Amino acid sequence: MDLMVVGGGGREHAIIKKLKENPEVETIYALPGNGGIAADAVCVPEIGATDIGAIVDFAKSHAVGFAVVAPDDPLAMGCVDRLHEAGIPCFGPSAAAARIESSKVFAKDLMRRHGIPTARYEVFDDPAKALAYLRDASFPIVVKADGLALGKGVLIPQDFQEAEEAVKSIMEDRVFGASGKKIVVEEFLTGPEVSVLAFTDGTAIRPMVSSMDHKRAGDGDTGPNTGGMGTIAPNPCYTPAIAQVCMDTIFLPTLAAMRAEGCPFKGCLYFGLMLTPDGPKVIEYNCRFGDPETQVVLPLLETDLLTIMRAVEDERLDELDIRWSSGAAACVILASGGYPLHYEKGKPISFPAALPEGVTLYHAGDALTADGTLVTSGGRVLGVTATAADLASALTAAYAAADTIHFDGASMRRDIGRRALALMEG
Ligand code: AMP
Ligand code: GLY
Repeated sequence: MDLMVVGGGGREHAIIKKLKENPEVETIYALPGNGGIAADAVCVPEIGATDIGAIVDFAKSHAVGFAVVAPDDPLAMGCVDRLHEAGIPCFGPSAAAARIESSKVFAKDLMRRHGIPTARYEVFDDPAKALAYLRDASFPIVVKADGLALGKGVLIPQDFQEAEEAVKSIMEDRVFGASGKKIVVEEFLTGPEVSVLAFTDGTAIRPMVSSMDHKRAGDGDTGPNTGGMGTIAPNPCYTPAIAQVCMDTIFLPTLAAMRAEGCPFKGCLYFGLMLTPDGPKVIEYNCRFGDPETQVVLPLLETDLLTIMRAVEDERLDELDIRWSSGAAACVILASGGYPLHYEKGKPISFPAALPEGVTLYHAGDALTADGTLVTSGGRVLGVTATAADLASALTAAYAAADTIHFDGASMRRDIGRRALALMEG
């Protein structure tokens, strides 16, 4: 069977590598894919991830047997709805269900209506009213643009003056574009963060191994927010007892809420959780696999991914027993110098002749030149993932491999997993 994966980053590479383990899979088309993905899939660089019409035409003309839509934008634009109309089985939520990520106001109101634990909040579409509210608020406080903003639409002002600047930049200067028409102002929560990705067919849910992202650009969680500089799995904060609380108070109620709202969620639902002193609360939902969480979660999956995705599509996930490795995984992101701000592209990348056992490279932002050289083409260039029996060994292996890959200006955080290791040592 031929498959199609929409997207072209490290997450899509991890999905493609996992799908390829199924012997039934023949060709995988990646739309658009990237330079490194071309080693594992047939890339179609002329079709971008948001060219919905071209994606549907491609799936029909290439007799694609199953499609996976990975990024948030095409999901919010209804790519899965359009593929279904064309009779193509696929994995991913409808546009109506994808609002759980594409509108923070929708997500917050859903949680309020259905009693799902989250930070207290107010919504504003008028900057003057937002400022009147903020004048009497306690700080720090959290200001979020309503719409999609590449994971960067969250500001945490420490005082009223910073709050004024946040409101002005989001609502008036529109630094996150139209996603700043409305804002959510919410209570600042504290506690360790956990990412839980889950397969769901709308009713049944199978959480994946938990993970921890490292969003800030610099060591010690300093510097600007990025798309994610590294991940580890499993997350040591996420104990079986906490997992049970999350299942009962967050996961199952969220699925029931989406069904009650007439938009059952099918696909991968990502719960961004904070383990607060008052129990686990939802920081955000994503309607898709996380990036770079996928690069540590899928390598630990032992059950065939295509079988799971088809069970989600056919709404028979409850029939499946999904197995995970008992080991750990770590992913270190090699980024272009200057990311997430200004950075240069087109730097040739040099790789070692062979990678050690247990290490996998997920290509996120690179391109092939006419003479077949891989050069950088994005902010996050490569994810270096290692799996091992325990987290410490996985981290050592991931960093050892990352140190053998070179390009001009390459940067990486040196402390991925350090906090998790400290927690495990108690
Ligand atoms: P989000 O894009 O909603 O995941 O937010 C990005 C980051 O901002 C999160 O990973 C948190 O570290 C932080 N954040 C978001 N909401 C809150 C909150 N209510 N309290 C404290 N930190 C938050
Ligand atoms: N790593 C966070 C995200 O995928 O949104």
